[in-house]
Amino acid sequence: MRAMFLLTMMAGCGAVTDEPTSSPTSPALTTPPPSSSTTSPTGTDLTSVPTTPGPVAVPDVWGSAPAEDHDPDPAVVEVHLTAAPTELDLVDGGATPMWAYNGQVPGPLLQARVGDLLRVVFTNELDEPTTIHWHGLRIDNLMDGVPAIQDPILPGETFTYEFVLPDAGTYWYHPHMRGHEQIERGLQGPLVVHEAVDPEVTRDRSFVLDDIALQSDGQHYDFNLSGMDGMHGRHGTYLLTNGSTEMVTGSIEPGAVERWRLVNTSNARLIHADVQGADWRVVGVDGGILEVPYDAKDVRLPVGRRFDLEVIPHADAESVQLEVLLPRVDFGFERYPVFEALVEGDPVESPVVEWVAAPLPAREPIEQEVVLELDAAPGFTSMKWLINGEQYGDGEPVPLQAHVPTRILISELSGAGHPFHLHGQFFEVVARNGDTDDIPGPLDTIHVAGRDELELYTTFDNPGLWMAHCHILEHAELGMMTSLDVTE
Ligand code: C2O
Ligand code: CU
Repeated sequence: MRAMFLLTMMAGCGAVTDEPTSSPTSPALTTPPPSSSTTSPTGTDLTSVPTTPGPVAVPDVWGSAPAEDHDPDPAVVEVHLTAAPTELDLVDGGATPMWAYNGQVPGPLLQARVGDLLRVVFTNELDEPTTIHWHGLRIDNLMDGVPAIQDPILPGETFTYEFVLPDAGTYWYHPHMRGHEQIERGLQGPLVVHEAVDPEVTRDRSFVLDDIALQSDGQHYDFNLSGMDGMHGRHGTYLLTNGSTEMVTGSIEPGAVERWRLVNTSNARLIHADVQGADWRVVGVDGGILEVPYDAKDVRLPVGRRFDLEVIPHADAESVQLEVLLPRVDFGFERYPVFEALVEGDPVESPVVEWVAAPLPAREPIEQEVVLELDAAPGFTSMKWLINGEQYGDGEPVPLQAHVPTRILISELSGAGHPFHLHGQFFEVVARNGDTDDIPGPLDTIHVAGRDELELYTTFDNPGLWMAHCHILEHAELGMMTSLDVTE
C-alpha cells in the first residue's frame, strides 16, 4: 500500500512565507503508514547489495544499481548514460510517465575513486535539449554542464563528459535545463567518489531522498511556474526513496557500523530526517568527510545537500529506521520511516572506523567580497525570484579573482527560504545572523532561511564562469540564478 506517503498540499496561501516545511502551508499526511514492504515498485530487490562490475576495486554501495564501467584501465571509469522516456509503476492508480537515465530512477550509481578519470558518454533520447551537471564536483568549467558554458545537448545527440575527480565524497548529477520538470520526472542520480583509503565500514548505503507530485492515476500534476509552485516550489504528494514510493527494507547485522549517504534531490522540500534504533552521528557533508564528526538530534537537508552518517544499531534494537519528519498542520511532526533494516544475522565485530578528512584550508584575511541579495517581486503571470534585483540573464556575471580569500554575504529579503548552491567551489559558513556555530564545511549548498544574513568563506580556487543559484528548481527557473566570473 503506497498511500503511506501520500501527502496533500494545503491550498490558499498567497503569502511568501518561510521554508514551507516549517510553515503552516506545509503538506500534511492523510493516511497512516503500513507495516512494511519488500520490493520497490519496479520490482528491484532493494535488499540485495549490488556488485560493482569492472576492475575498479571500490566498495559496494547499497541503494541504486551501479553503472557498468566500460574502461579496463583501473584509473578510468567510463559509463554510458542515455536519457529517455520510460514508465514506472509508482502509484496504484496507473503508470507514471518518467524520464530516466538508463531506465532507472534514480539514475545508475556512478562511482569511482578520488583521482580517477570519469568519462560519461551521454546520449539524449528525450524530445528536448538537456545537459548533465555534476553537483558539487570541483571540475573543469567546460564539463560543468550548464547552458552558459556548453551548447545544450539536442535530441538524438551524444556528448562525452570527462573529468578527473578531485574530491572524495557524496555527490549527485542532474540536468541544468528546465530542471523543475527534467529532475522531477526522474533525471537525477547518485555519484560516489570513494576516498583513497576506504573507511572500514560494514556497509556503505546511498539514499536518494526525493518527493514527487503525482495524481492518484499516476499522472504528474502540471509543471507550473505560476501559483503555489512558483511561490514555494513544487512539493510532492509522495516521498520517493531510492525511487520507491514504498518503504525500502533491508537488514543490518548486530555490531555493524554503516555509512549512510543521504542526498536531497527534491524540487523544493527541505528534508528533515532522523535515524531510530541506532547511535548515529554526522561524519560527512557536501564536500566529504568532516574533520570533526558531530552528534545531531536530526538532520535537515536543503535541496542538493548531502550528509554522510555513521550508523551503529543499538545492542537491543530489532530494527534501524531512517525517518523523514513531516510537519503536522497542528504543529509538531509526523515521522515516516522511509527505510527499515531488521537487525538480523550473525553479529559482526564492530570496527572502529577512522574518518579521515581532507583538512580545510586555514582561513586567510579577506581580500574580496561578493554581496548577493535574494529577493522576490511580483511578475505578470508568476513570481520573479531575484538575485541583486535581477533575474538570471538580465545582468552581467560578477567578476571575481581566483585564489583570493573571499567573503560571500548573502541576505534574504523576501521572507522565503532558499537552498543556496555555488558551482565549482566549496565554502564554509562563517556566520549566520551573527552566530558562528553553523554546519561545518566543506559545503556547496546551504539553507538560507527567510531574512537570514549569511557570511560564507571561500577562496575561489577553481577559475571559470560558475553558477550560484537557489536550488528550489522553480525559483531557479523564475530567475534566482546568477553567475560568477572567476578569473586568474
Ligand atoms: Cu544541483 Cu546548479 O545545481
Ligand atoms: Cu529559492
